[in-house]
Amino acid sequence: MDIPIDPKTLRHTLGRYATGVTIVTCRDAHGEPVGLTCNSFGSLSLDPPLVLWSLRSASPSMPAFLAAGHFAVNVLADAQVELSRRFASPVADKFAEGQWADGAGGAPVLAGCAAVIECARFDARPVGDHWLFVGRVLSLQEAPLAPLVFQAGHYHLLGEII
Ligand SMILES: Cc1cc2nc3c(=O)[nH]c(=O)nc-3n(C[C@H](O)[C@H](O)[C@H](O)COP(=O)(O)O)c2cc1C
Repeated sequence: MDIPIDPKTLRHTLGRYATGVTIVTCRDAHGEPVGLTCNSFGSLSLDPPLVLWSLRSASPSMPAFLAAGHFAVNVLADAQVELSRRFASPVADKFAEGQWADGAGGAPVLAGCAAVIECARFDARPVGDHWLFVGRVLSLQEAPLAPLVFQAGHYHLLGEII
């Protein structure tokens, strides 16, 4: 039997789980850059190398990601919190801030990140009220920078190693 789960309670409880913060990007069918702040990113498989993330079905970014053969996952450093806020809002020209270059398939890659994972789309399917995107990793970059952390609706600096 299904137990009714209140969406607000679900969001609140799942928000206790601390995550990193990414900006996932692609190029739309007209060649325009598209991206959004995303913390549903995760590792999926080592062989083949696969990662996943999910996008709200009603997102204005959806047509672009459905059309794009590639996406880039930019794992934000803690100094990039303003970019995280920018890419989580419906601002007109999100890419006017930050230093961006073209990655695989034209997906925008951000300078100064803790890591960048460039992917070819491996799978995309609707699951619940989101689409699940799976990417095959094409290239990896990393830098010894502290990552931005998100938990319980707030941004955090990474704590001490224990
Ligand atoms: C920390 C954080 C994580 C987020 N993670 C996701 C996510 O995984 N998937 C998603 O669809 N939206 C996520 N969002 C919301 C989007 O960033 C936000 O709705 C954004 O405006 C979507 O861009 P768009 O309106 O251009 O589609 C997140 C927002 C924040 C602040």
